[in-house]
Amino acid sequence: MSPERSDMLVLFGATGDLAHKKIFPALYAMVAKGTLNEPVIGVAFDPWDLAKLQARARDGIVNALGSIDDKIFARLASLLRYVSGDYRAPATFEKLKTALGSAERPLHYLAVPPAMFEVVVQGLEQSGAAQGARLMVEKPFGHDLQSARWLNRVLHLVFDEKSIFRIDHYLGKEAIQNLLYFRFANSFLEPIWNRNYVESVQITMAEDFGVEGRGRFYDEVGCIRDVIANHLLNILLLLAMEPPVGRSADDLIDEKVQVLRAIRTLTRDDVVRGQFDGYLKEPGVAPNSPVDTFAAVRFFVDTWRWQDVPFFIRAGKSLPVHATEVIVRLKRPPLDVFDPITPGDCNHVRFRIDPQVAISIGARRKAPGDDMVGEQVELTALDDSKGDMPPYERLIGDAMNGNGQLFTRQDASELAWRIVGPVLGDTTPPPVYAPKTWGPAEAMAGFGPPNGWINPAK
Ligand code: BG6
Repeated sequence: MSPERSDMLVLFGATGDLAHKKIFPALYAMVAKGTLNEPVIGVAFDPWDLAKLQARARDGIVNALGSIDDKIFARLASLLRYVSGDYRAPATFEKLKTALGSAERPLHYLAVPPAMFEVVVQGLEQSGAAQGARLMVEKPFGHDLQSARWLNRVLHLVFDEKSIFRIDHYLGKEAIQNLLYFRFANSFLEPIWNRNYVESVQITMAEDFGVEGRGRFYDEVGCIRDVIANHLLNILLLLAMEPPVGRSADDLIDEKVQVLRAIRTLTRDDVVRGQFDGYLKEPGVAPNSPVDTFAAVRFFVDTWRWQDVPFFIRAGKSLPVHATEVIVRLKRPPLDVFDPITPGDCNHVRFRIDPQVAISIGARRKAPGDDMVGEQVELTALDDSKGDMPPYERLIGDAMNGNGQLFTRQDASELAWRIVGPVLGDTTPPPVYAPKTWGPAEAMAGFGPPNGWINPAK
């Protein structure tokens, strides 16, 4: 029996940046498709009225989508309510309880700074608004193992694990769904998807912009906490996991957790850090901040399938392009029968995650001409991404329907922190790299998959 759908959405942090940029556009898209008909209560500290929240929502939608259909927006606006107040004040939650009316299964979405999670959850409990409810929590989920454990304990005092949805928006991306589908809906990959054929795996998330006004937030997290320990590690899990035994949320998450358990805890030798030149001048960044805006990390997955195959993840701000890509590089043939093959050339599978969605198989073929000389080609299935469901739309819909498949379970959230724990909080100043380059060149020399990194194209 499928779980019952939530009958109201409560958005904490309704006047914030995330709501403006991502959540209201997602709600608008849901209304347009008829997948959201439930009231949405915005909650925030700002002493606004409903009209101001509606105007803010409208602005976010226009910014994100370039245009707006007034009829659709009017439907969304009619679903909106607004409760303003301090999250520490019981009166705020009493107002919320009144606004919930006869709702039996609200979804409370905490799009607020992590420091507020505990306060809001306690307010929900004390007012009775947690009764029958679900909870969706934004990242970062803790800042290390200890704080994640503490947070889990706090949430579990009020919500059971099945009612908690820890969001990692990467898991809602079409390309990530595609990666999972491609792996387990085809049989040709399986015989080669292991240590016998795979030489290395590399995942690059490059952003050609800096911290975009989020200096204060970013300076507390740095690259590993911001995108590696969650978004990119999740991609690694999908690449490395065994086939799930069924389609339930737990079947999938159980396999991911098996991989997490097998990943070696990192040491400082597994990491190269960097900071782009100019970061220290960003508003909100501490003078002489040792926070990294770039990191390259080597992982090993100690399983029968992956023993000794290096998995590299590299991510950074102010790099030359904006793209996320995975390359699974296969070992070269045992002999060059025709022409000598350049090491690193030959077969690979490329998953392009962002901005376009594409899957390519890299191979060699004979170059036209008299000689048996080859050339490197890629066979690509490209998707222009038009009509793809944006991650927030998919994930809010899933959480309202009680489908936890694309969310992070408690054990997974804690295991990820166990793996990266020893490399967090390094206070040595990282080497500086020039904006629009691939990180600190000297520190990166010799650090990477055998036969080198493949930089994503624009
Ligand atoms: C967020 C990070 O989680 O993901 C940002 O905090 C990063 O620093 C962003 O830019 C990337 O996500 P997307 O979907 O916009 O590529």
